[in-house]
Amino acid sequence: MADDAKIETWTLDDGKKLTLRHITPGDAVIEQTFVRKLSAHSRYMRFHGIIKELNQKDLATFTNPDPLNAEALIILYKGDKDEEEEVGVARFVIDPDGNGCEFAVVVADEWQRRGLGMKLMKTLISHAQARGIKRIYGSVLKNNFGMLTFVKRLGFEETADPDDSSVMRVTKYLRH
Ligand SMILES: CC(C)(COP(=O)(O)OP(=O)(O)OC[C@H]1O[C@@H](n2cnc3c(N)ncnc32)[C@H](O)[C@@H]1OP(=O)(O)O)[C@@H](O)C(=O)NCCC(=O)NCCS
Repeated sequence: MADDAKIETWTLDDGKKLTLRHITPGDAVIEQTFVRKLSAHSRYMRFHGIIKELNQKDLATFTNPDPLNAEALIILYKGDKDEEEEVGVARFVIDPDGNGCEFAVVVADEWQRRGLGMKLMKTLISHAQARGIKRIYGSVLKNNFGMLTFVKRLGFEETADPDDSSVMRVTKYLRH
């Protein structure tokens, strides 16, 4: 799904320039570096478990989503360095029936509360909508108050997960 027409760039209040685009298999190194550099807290909130890095299978899947049933967007920052750095990522995987998709999002700790999560999710939601998907949903740990506030602002509804009392199911119904 990575095509140049879908690259977006913008500038934060402090002048830092960011780029949003689809992830590609060539992003494996920056994706793994991004996950390793997350705080233990952010990794736990994102993966609902204690991991230090992605295993090779997940890394391959995450950086090469099947365009028929998945999509992943990353935000990159270059600054003065030679290499671009990944500072946020959001993805969805479409259910086999094509009606719903499950999402996940995470932003680098030092970049949180600067609108990157909103940018990723609003773009991801608009792409899900364009594919005719009826609802986008995710599982959020009950103590992840930041994320619960964040998705509420995006118009998600919260319900209990009958299969897992440690999480809330959050769902946004997409209009067509
Ligand atoms: C949740 C997360 C993705 C939000 O991304 P972000 O880039 O920091 O969010 P934004 O800057 O776009 O925030 C938009 C709004 O969401 C709400 N929000 C975001 N983080 C919040 C927090 N920690 N506490 C309260 N409200 C929060 C606020 O209303 C915020 O607007 P404001 O900053 O003007 O008050 C990010 O904090 C993160 O990666 N957390 C760790 C991983 C995680 O929990 N992932 C979700 C797995 S289900």
